[in-house]
Amino acid sequence: MCGIVGYIGYREAYPIIIKGLQRLEYRGYDSAGIALYDGKNINLSKTKGKVVDLQKRAEQEISLKGYIGIGHTRWATHGVPNDVNSHPHYSNSEDLVVIHNGIIENYAPLKKELQSKGYVFTSDTDTEVLINLIEYVQKNENLKLGKAVQLALTQVVGAYAIAVFDKKKPNEVIAARMGSPLAIGVGEDKKEFFIASDASPFIEYTKNAIYLEDGEIAVIRVGKDIKLRKIADDTLLDPFIQALELNLEQIEKGGYEHFMLKEIHEQPNAIIDTYRGRMLVNEGIIRMAGIDNHLERFLNADRIIIVACGTSWHAALVAEYVIESLARIPVEVEYASEFRYRNPIITSKDVVIAISQSGETADTRAAIQLAKQKGAFVFGVCNVVGSTISRESDAGAYTHAGPEIGVASTKAFTTQITVLILIALKLAKAKGSISNDEYFTHLQELERIPAKVAEALTSDENIKTIAAIYKDSPNFLYLGRGFNFPVALEGALKLKEISYIHAEGYPAAEMKHGPIALIDEKMPIVVIATKKGHYEKVVSNIEEIKARSGKIIAIVTKGDVDVKALADHVIEVPDTLELLSPLLTTIPLQLLSYHIAVMRNCNVDQPRNLAKSVTVE
Ligand code: F6R
Repeated sequence: MCGIVGYIGYREAYPIIIKGLQRLEYRGYDSAGIALYDGKNINLSKTKGKVVDLQKRAEQEISLKGYIGIGHTRWATHGVPNDVNSHPHYSNSEDLVVIHNGIIENYAPLKKELQSKGYVFTSDTDTEVLINLIEYVQKNENLKLGKAVQLALTQVVGAYAIAVFDKKKPNEVIAARMGSPLAIGVGEDKKEFFIASDASPFIEYTKNAIYLEDGEIAVIRVGKDIKLRKIADDTLLDPFIQALELNLEQIEKGGYEHFMLKEIHEQPNAIIDTYRGRMLVNEGIIRMAGIDNHLERFLNADRIIIVACGTSWHAALVAEYVIESLARIPVEVEYASEFRYRNPIITSKDVVIAISQSGETADTRAAIQLAKQKGAFVFGVCNVVGSTISRESDAGAYTHAGPEIGVASTKAFTTQITVLILIALKLAKAKGSISNDEYFTHLQELERIPAKVAEALTSDENIKTIAAIYKDSPNFLYLGRGFNFPVALEGALKLKEISYIHAEGYPAAEMKHGPIALIDEKMPIVVIATKKGHYEKVVSNIEEIKARSGKIIAIVTKGDVDVKALADHVIEVPDTLELLSPLLTTIPLQLLSYHIAVMRNCNVDQPRNLAKSVTVE
């Protein structure tokens, strides 16, 4: 939520910050702002709207000169999205300026106290309180900026990633983190530094980055080593400079109209990247260090609890079916946001798997912290390398999907499922809960999945035609059974979030316990009706819909004739093992929601009210 970018060095800061904000716009996009230091003054411009709106405004109203600057793209928490509430925020003297991602929870009493000392506030934000608190501490205690920020932060409760600049001390920028991600790009010979919510804004300038940990503050000065300290006790730390693997191509659209479409089409390769080096089909080996090194913990676990949010929670549901069916270990799936507050029973014999694309989701982080406190073993399945959850877990496995920039998750989902299938197969082999034949059959078929995903993607034109027919429907129902029940939930979520059409996902057989009342001749019902598993039962459910004149869009196995005879529309996917079928049935649902959203003129990559990385509760 919110993206922050800062630069200090020898290049013009403006183009670096604007481009950086565009790359971080997936994090929040209701308003944007920039502050540049021209050697004498801070020039600040901000506006409600997107980064392009900021660009237009800044180019008209301020000097764009300067080698130091900070910028922000916002996802509103305190205060509606408007020009005034946009960041950066000045302190009362206008000497200090800040950008902030997070929430200062105790901003109200702090604001009251500052008001009693004569401070005046123009915005409704918690951030303006923070910068004035820093100014107050700086003046009152006569401190250098770094120390003032540090002391002010000890009074703050909440989450933040901040960058602060003081025009009285124009050779430095202060950055600090608690709960919200923050990376510092280190330029060649320390001639320049970049500050950002992730590494994408500076990837073409440097591959060297320092990821701040929670509770750390950095004083950044050109030509000097970064001074890194613990906020709470002032301990001096050794910054760890990490070499980045990200490249520019991965974070650009590469000829596609939207990131979401690019990411949908990347899935065959993303799945290969997920199992590459891990799955040795001929040898019958699955290598995953995170499991190999802790195999006994998994095999002796009373149960596996999977915590996640949103799409990752749907991947967790698929994993529940897969792990229980292959490895015969009991699995419970929990919304991280519920789990963290309901005083769950967790013991040291539990394994908790946290699934998170971003690795930064606040609720999932809190859930794993709770699990660790109670002695459970925590295993993270994340996409973003070096992310907080991946670092805070006892062990883990990356999905290796590459950057996912479209706000609606696509390739993260299928690669999460791939990792979890590998884990289930590995545990099943170690436990002896499946036969050797079954094990090999699954490995061989998993290796064929990327080609089958590519084949599923060729239904695009058919899906577009169906999208055009139903794009104005106010409601959709998605039905699936067994391994494909979570896919129905995911299909409904995809449609809701990018096209703003109300949609619900249900286990197909549950339909008659309520949702069947919704069905009439106007209601489109997407039914996952692939062969195997509960095919005949789903066919009966389709008959029940048909009897009530509902419009059936069926996802079927290639060559199916029975459902074809009943459904209004069919979308074929290649045949596969039932357990692997979610990797294929998901694809047409992603494309259907994509095309409907495009036809409704919705902003596919940046749907309203959403943000890619939910770092607040
Ligand atoms: C939906 C979507 C969200 C995320 C959820 C969890 O398309 O993107 O529902 O899945 O916010 O995010 P991560 O996986 O980053 O923890």
